[in-house]
Amino acid sequence: MEVPRTFDPPPRLLMGPGPSDVAPAVLQAMARPLVGHLDPSFVHLMEEIKSMLRQVFLTRNELTFPVSGTGSAGMEFCFVNLVEPGDEVVIGVNGVFGNRMCDVAERCGAHVTKVEAPWGHIITPHHVAEALKKVSHPKLVAIVHAETSTGALTPVEEISQLAHQAGALFLLDTVTSLGGCPVRVDDWQVDAVYSGTQKCLSCPPGLAPVSFSPRAVEIATHRKTKVQSWYLDLNLLSSYWGQERVYHHTAPITMNYGLHEALRLVLQERLENRWQRHEQNHLLLKHGLAELGLEIVSQPGHQLWQLNAVGVPPGVDELAVRKFLLADYNIEIGAGLGPLKGKIWRIGLMGETSKKENVQTVLSALRKILKK
Ligand SMILES: Cc1ncc(COP(=O)(O)O)c(C=O)c1O
Repeated sequence: MEVPRTFDPPPRLLMGPGPSDVAPAVLQAMARPLVGHLDPSFVHLMEEIKSMLRQVFLTRNELTFPVSGTGSAGMEFCFVNLVEPGDEVVIGVNGVFGNRMCDVAERCGAHVTKVEAPWGHIITPHHVAEALKKVSHPKLVAIVHAETSTGALTPVEEISQLAHQAGALFLLDTVTSLGGCPVRVDDWQVDAVYSGTQKCLSCPPGLAPVSFSPRAVEIATHRKTKVQSWYLDLNLLSSYWGQERVYHHTAPITMNYGLHEALRLVLQERLENRWQRHEQNHLLLKHGLAELGLEIVSQPGHQLWQLNAVGVPPGVDELAVRKFLLADYNIEIGAGLGPLKGKIWRIGLMGETSKKENVQTVLSALRKILKK
């Protein structure tokens, strides 16, 4: 049998819902020689990653580290550790990822109350308050900050207050928001937060940064039942990521090299500058789209800077446009999901991808394709 040739990826411009483009420095970091996962130099790197993650999440939470696995592993980590069978949880659903949280919570044995909003719209404090009235002992209120499937950014401060007034923990999905727009874990009193590496942190997929408040740690470590997942059990993981350094699993060493470098780049740029860059490039794209007769269809006033949900004009073949972009221009953009399938394109301007020249490149390609 013939052995395939070494894989040589095409030079894509990643302008979809993630992964985003990765800086050469991050790729170079990932090509460095391996050390062991308990090597003193790796332990030092782990400590620096935890410290940089605290700075990026804007938190002082001791329990802050990257779970081995993609963003969904971060989601599962939060639910499996905080939810026990029979617990009542309230979850905002305005797109794919709110639905995924419901599925994960149900698998933990939770009774889920959904707070639904039309796709593309935000979850409002009013609707959360109404849902909380119907639940006797809510353990957790969970929201997706930036819904990647629809391009809407839900403001969460008031929802966090409502959760706490009801005696519940507040859980936030920041997979697409972290590094691209403000995420203030301590100021917003978020008890449990998870993210992913491949969006606005511009590192390849494979790690899920998480952070738990002291209250969340207290609840997770004083459960009545054993955590259903051995791999994601906080009690076991914190012996490896904490001071004891007890072997739990073999950490994906190279991924951690990459995240370390990606976080360094975020902090070198400074969070405020990075957020501003994402906002400016979003506005530039929005303006250029308007000139082509295209518009962003998510709720006005709550549109994401890093993920733009662009309405497909009547009579235009949504799939054909994406195919031309990929084949003729090497540009990847995303399709709509669920009820938005065939109705929107999702243009990502995340992390390294969020550049003025990339905005101009995609606009010029779209102009030519739409004319055709
Ligand atoms: C908001 C949100 N949450 C969760 C996830 C799941 O992350 P992953 O695909 O890295 O498992 C994604 C992925 O796109 C996401 O956008």
